[in-house]
Amino acid sequence: MRFTDQRKWFHEKRFGMFVHWGIYALGGRHEQEQMRYSVPAAEYEKYVQRFNPEKFDPVAWLDMIQENGMEYLVFTAKHHDGFCMWDTAETDYNIMNTPYKKDIVGMLAEECHKRDFPLEIYYSCVDWHHPAYPNLGRHHEIKTDPAHHNMDEYMDYLKRQIRELCTNYGKIHGIWWDMNVPELVDPSVNELIRQLQPAAVINNRGYGPGDYSTPERDYQAEGFEPYQNPVEACDSVGANSWGYCAENDYFSIRKLERQIALYTALGGNFLLNAGPKADGTFADGATRILREVGKWYKKLKPALTATPCGGIVPNTTAVCTGKDKTLNLVILDGPFAEAFTIRGFGYLPERVISLNTGEEFPCTLEPIAATIGMPPSLRIRKMPCDRMKDEIHVLQMQFAEPFHPQPQNLEMTEEKEQNSSDFSQFV
Ligand code: GLC
Repeated sequence: MRFTDQRKWFHEKRFGMFVHWGIYALGGRHEQEQMRYSVPAAEYEKYVQRFNPEKFDPVAWLDMIQENGMEYLVFTAKHHDGFCMWDTAETDYNIMNTPYKKDIVGMLAEECHKRDFPLEIYYSCVDWHHPAYPNLGRHHEIKTDPAHHNMDEYMDYLKRQIRELCTNYGKIHGIWWDMNVPELVDPSVNELIRQLQPAAVINNRGYGPGDYSTPERDYQAEGFEPYQNPVEACDSVGANSWGYCAENDYFSIRKLERQIALYTALGGNFLLNAGPKADGTFADGATRILREVGKWYKKLKPALTATPCGGIVPNTTAVCTGKDKTLNLVILDGPFAEAFTIRGFGYLPERVISLNTGEEFPCTLEPIAATIGMPPSLRIRKMPCDRMKDEIHVLQMQFAEPFHPQPQNLEMTEEKEQNSSDFSQFV
């Protein structure tokens, strides 16, 4: 399924920025600090009196996001703590009651609109502050007084807030639900969004199936076939948290590049998250990662977002995109040798160039000692594999004729059947 209505922007803008920001930034531990560190509500709520991000500058944020090649923004209006980053009439537990007193969602929406930059809003279904939300101590829940629990009342509150968010801030490009712990089904919630914001995409973590799936971090099994339905994967710059974490263990650039390459080359979107500090600026570690990953993504974007074509390379170390006379080989692991060999691939390109560096590599279909008597193998040769280890690379094969290889053209060799995992790296 692909969107053909106003939601089709989602297929054009494939790399987005995720921002987790709330009063928890003051603790600098985790966006779920209240639950994970068992902070009593009365203690946690004192952050409201201190939250004053004087350096928050939506222009600087959007400049940074755009310079780093990202094309839409998903912002946490309300995380599990229930604190609202906008001027809501529905609870006092909101940004207008901090010393800052300015509507952060509104400021971001205004800047996004000026740039025609899509903004999606993250809204947590679980709510540790609203007395009616049945916090029963299930996963991602604390325990609150059951005497006040009333799911109907909470859902009315939630719908009024969604109406506010979908009414007061102009065009909104999506609602990003999270953590529907009781797995409640209520189609009226997504219908309300559709009625108010026809360009809004809705993820699959809310009260109905939604428009797209949301594989997170590395928790999903990897598949290597192009996606039939919209997918938006996400990960954060560091392993420890989505909100600001003073002691974050940042990921390697290469691990993030690999994830982005995999999901985009299969036709999906990717959200890269960072949590700003309580003063409204991003930590140096996060800024560096966003800059480096962005530089890499911008270089490879045309290849990563080209038509996905699965099954051409019979292995799991590379995925392919492209059409007509071009095939882009997105190398997810390796290259482990000076040659990248695709066994059983009998098409000789005119040229093979690295889209990372512009270097051209020779290639042959001649058998070598180990492949004599086997189906042809394309060998892309003389690659500086040690120099290439730091970045995810894309090799572009350019053919003389429009090129439409079919997966069934690729014959299996005995060796592949015995040992499929290392199939392509045979040299
Ligand atoms: C996980 C985390 C949550 C975060 C979300 C982002 O569900 O528990 O805190 O907001 O991932 O996808």
